[in-house]
Amino acid sequence: MIEQQIKAAIRDIPDFPKPGIIFKDITPILKDHNLCEGIVDAFIEQIKGIKVDAVAGIESRGFLFGLTLANKLGVPFVPVRKAGKLPYTIKQKVYELEYGTATIELHTDAFEPGSHILIHDDLLATGGTVTAASELIQEMGGVVAGYTFVVGLGFLNGKERITPVSDNVIVLAE
Ligand code: PRP
Ligand code: MG
Repeated sequence: MIEQQIKAAIRDIPDFPKPGIIFKDITPILKDHNLCEGIVDAFIEQIKGIKVDAVAGIESRGFLFGLTLANKLGVPFVPVRKAGKLPYTIKQKVYELEYGTATIELHTDAFEPGSHILIHDDLLATGGTVTAASELIQEMGGVVAGYTFVVGLGFLNGKERITPVSDNVIVLAE
């Protein structure tokens, strides 16, 4: 049900941002408040029984549902940001992209060591971004409780890449 609603709302944009890439545009989802609420409710339902002390959302699109999910779970939200955006003391992780590298950062006081952190992002593609987030969280003493995504690109095998850390991988639409 929710899977069909998400699939119907997502808009495929061919050749964006580069030729050959089909971009999954989630902005039509954001115009539908019932669907947005349904997405967060589906996450809550599917993570039942998993210990979650905080939700870490990945900039930018991981902020959209990440904060609402944390609020509904009644736990803190921590933003995983791109380089140079967080003002307090930070810890960072540099990771490989297809061409070049990217950097993500967390505030050093984002969570207490031993906290169970649920990682949230809008989309699972190669899994490179959430793998970097998961490594950073673990280096800071956190335990990865699981992952939630609105959409997954199954053919890129991102799931296989992230399950060794936690097999609590929730993808609402694949
Ligand atoms: C997209 C998407 C995920 C990531 C998935 O973010 O929102 O964060 O790529 O790709 P991966 O699984 O191969 O790492 P993008 O970097 O386009 O930035 P944005 O969220 O700021 O739009
Ligand atoms: Mg993103």
